[in-house]
Amino acid sequence: MAVLGLKLPTERRWVELVKKDLETTMSTHAWAEQKAASYAISLIVRFPQYDAIVETMSALAIEEMGHFRQVYQWIKKKGFTLKPVAKDDYVNDLWNFVRKGGSQEDYLMDRLLLGAMIEARSCERFKVLTQYIHDEELAKFYRDLMASEARHYTTFIKLAKQYLPAEEVDKRWKAFLDFEAEVMKHYNKSAEIHG
Ligand SMILES: [Fe+2]
Ligand SMILES: [Fe+2]
Repeated sequence: MAVLGLKLPTERRWVELVKKDLETTMSTHAWAEQKAASYAISLIVRFPQYDAIVETMSALAIEEMGHFRQVYQWIKKKGFTLKPVAKDDYVNDLWNFVRKGGSQEDYLMDRLLLGAMIEARSCERFKVLTQYIHDEELAKFYRDLMASEARHYTTFIKLAKQYLPAEEVDKRWKAFLDFEAEVMKHYNKSAEIHG
């Protein structure tokens, strides 16, 4: 079933790619956690006047780096190597939804919703992994992360509604879900965590 309102569930062919190259999935996942931490920091730097953003994003940055460390430890445990960081095409595609050069409020809204969307899709991907990974301990690790990302999704939406009109946030989120579904049509083509 649909996770957190996402319109397109991950396709079975992604699972098949992951099964053949879990090392790539886990390496890109580790970097996705590092990027989530960097993203949280970038929001603090960009919006220091919003107390709840500074407070919440400081905590999130630390938590996401904790996830990076845990994934890194799993990579080692599996006998894999952390591959060099690479660009995340899916996230770059989502950036096209963010309005630039408009009002501060529009930009704040889109940046928070971008955070929420990456959390939502990551949560969905982790859920898929829990269903197909044979290593029970690793599956449990992904179940725990799935819960964290669902919580982070809520954190971003709540922050948006704290500073911006709730009905506008809901409207923009609906539009973003449609946009994300269009983007997703081009994926499920590599073993990367957002591939
Ligand atoms: Fe995370
Ligand atoms: Fe997260």
